[in-house]
Amino acid sequence: MVVSRKIFSKNIFYKTIIHDYTFCLYNLKKIFLFLYIVLFVLDLKTISGNLLLLQNVSLKSTRNASFLNKRSASELWKSVISVSNAGKRRGRGRTASKAKDLNKTQKIGFGKIPIIFPGFNSNIILGDTTLQQRPFTEQEKLNYIQEQETKNLISTTKRNKLHPLLRGWSGGQPGGRRLGPPSSDESFKGFETWILYCNHTSIMTSNMGRTKRCRLLVITGNRKGLAGFVMLSGSEFKSTVNAAKVKAGQRLIYVERHNDHTVLHDFFSQFGNTKIFVEQRPKGHGLQCHRVIRTCCEAVGITDLFAKIEGSNNVSSIVKAFFIGLLQQKTYDQIVKEKGLHLVEMRKENNYFPTVLASPTVVRDSSEISPTETLDFKNYVMNGRIPLRKKVRLPFYTKLPSWLIHLRKQERHRDQDKVIIRLRAEYGDICSFLTEKYPEARPSKWRKHDKKKEETT
Ligand SMILES: *[C@@H]1O[C@H](CO)[C@@H](O)[C@H](O)[C@H]1NC(C)=O
Ligand SMILES: *[C@@H]1O[C@H](CO)[C@@H](O)[C@H](O)[C@H]1NC(C)=O
Ligand SMILES: *[C@@H]1O[C@H](CO)[C@@H](O)[C@H](O)[C@H]1NC(C)=O
Ligand SMILES: *[C@@H]1O[C@H](CO)[C@@H](O)[C@H](O)[C@H]1NC(C)=O
Repeated sequence: MVVSRKIFSKNIFYKTIIHDYTFCLYNLKKIFLFLYIVLFVLDLKTISGNLLLLQNVSLKSTRNASFLNKRSASELWKSVISVSNAGKRRGRGRTASKAKDLNKTQKIGFGKIPIIFPGFNSNIILGDTTLQQRPFTEQEKLNYIQEQETKNLISTTKRNKLHPLLRGWSGGQPGGRRLGPPSSDESFKGFETWILYCNHTSIMTSNMGRTKRCRLLVITGNRKGLAGFVMLSGSEFKSTVNAAKVKAGQRLIYVERHNDHTVLHDFFSQFGNTKIFVEQRPKGHGLQCHRVIRTCCEAVGITDLFAKIEGSNNVSSIVKAFFIGLLQQKTYDQIVKEKGLHLVEMRKENNYFPTVLASPTVVRDSSEISPTETLDFKNYVMNGRIPLRKKVRLPFYTKLPSWLIHLRKQERHRDQDKVIIRLRAEYGDICSFLTEKYPEARPSKWRKHDKKKEETT
């Protein structure tokens, strides 16, 4: 019985002790009676024999000064970071931290000058000798450092950082990232997959905690006319990406290309509120379009094209509209068959010399052509649509009176550069209608660098 003296006055203290004592006396009678019976039953000799033997007593000194000393480290960590099985199923503790190694920077003896402290960081007795306190030898230091390094290598989980060339269109966003072929199957050799759109959403539910969803638009293609795309949503990013990749590989579409580098002809197509105007371009022009269309072109194998989007920029609408347009393309023979007329090309490069590209088997004559029929090829393939070209706004200074003065001063030199280029291209020199008559009449070298050139030569 422990009684604090500070609280109780002397009188009460004595009283309690006397009370305890009488209580004990009363109990002793019973205990002696019980022992008497026990000894009677048991063999006295065996008990006395055992008591006289040597006993090994292990002493363990513990001072449970506070709550923290009473509990082991693992118990304390468990109370902070553990989640029950039922909680785990509901998604609790997904973001809980892991147990930290609090010894990490405060190991006895391993400071700036490592020192052996027998009993703390090494054994006291090694073989027959007792160890003394001393600094580490060089070899021991090296061993210790190597040990730490191997420990760090094992313990640190590496963040999988993307190689700069494998990143998408912009920053760390998944859009435009490459994923490799849909499967390692031999039939998907040469295929590549791109992420076109990725949206992560999370919803707080009453019994499942925060649930994550991920929505992906993925396109796969072999750059030789075969391509497939799919929109898929799932819970985890990684698994959804893989599922989408496989699914896109199962929905392949074949697209015809002109000379394996561009679209068959210009076209207009629309899906939802998204309108796309696509134009053919010569080889080497490159892809001049929205990044989503550019990636689609890469998958299909188109290298030269111009495209303009009007209306909504919704990614899935863009992809659908583009593919609808690609699939609705017609070859020249098909167009000619529909129209019953020759298809004739006149290019500026060829001096507008008419070249027949395709001819139908039966040609209509002029009496059969109605005056309202569209005969312009571009107008026909574009379905009568014309992309909206934004008006270029004139700069503010064109409204000032000084602008008129400037124009008046510049009038003599107006279009001079273009004329020089044209003359050089056509006649090989800057000349005029008077050159034949007066060959000595040459234009003055009024430009600085022209003059310098003349002096040096
Ligand atoms: C200290 O705590 C340990 C572990 O809970 C316990 O076994 C031991 O009896 C306690 N010691 C004292 C003096 O209370
Ligand atoms: C931390 O150091 C103490 C005392 O040296 C040791 O009992 C304990 O096991 C160590 N904990 C870890 C996680 O290494
Ligand atoms: C992701 O989807 C949600 C719901 O459909 C939408 O509100 C949000 O704007 C989308 N985020 C992006 C970046 O597209
Ligand atoms: C794009 O439009 C479709 C419907 O056509 C819609 O389901 C989707 O959420 C839209 N995407 C965005 C990013 O707004």
